[in-house]
Amino acid sequence: MRRIVYDAEQIAERVRELGAAISEAYPDGNVLALGLLKGSFIFLGDLVREITRPLQVDFLVASSYGDAMASRGNVRLVYDPETQLEGKHILLVEDIVDSGRTINRLMGLLGERRPRSLEICALLHKHLATELRYPVRFVGFDAPNEFLVGYGLDHAENFRHLPYIASLQ
Ligand code: PRP
Repeated sequence: MRRIVYDAEQIAERVRELGAAISEAYPDGNVLALGLLKGSFIFLGDLVREITRPLQVDFLVASSYGDAMASRGNVRLVYDPETQLEGKHILLVEDIVDSGRTINRLMGLLGERRPRSLEICALLHKHLATELRYPVRFVGFDAPNEFLVGYGLDHAENFRHLPYIASLQ
């Protein structure tokens, strides 16, 4: 059973607003948008085209879910960004904040690279992450506590290509 939670038009409008807010927050640019793969691949592509400041793009690959419907909390860094992080305004781009463990682990790692600033942009935030130690500065939607797929989000690697976000519940 699939219920559309955010359709393509709603997502596009919100991504435009996020791009405007991010552009305003970094008047001088020098932003490095770091997309966490795989989930953020569509969001990052849409978001950076709405940011009107000098910007670079790189990726991080971590893994926590596997094929299960629940987070196990082990975050593995599979790809480390090649770009120099020191002195840059790093914007970590996430598709969804669920338990918050991924963010906690990655922010610790990135903070050690001495960026000029370090902020998080998440398209979806479930707000149930009691363990989350960092504020999410840019949030697309306050998401329901349901299993969401589409627009980059998967279930067992399926549904990432959907242009909308749906709930499997
Ligand atoms: C998912 C999602 C987030 C993270 C959120 O990634 O894309 O990165 O889990 O969960 P948390 O807040 O409970 O840590 P996943 O590990 O499934 O990898 P994927 O992006 O390749 O789908």
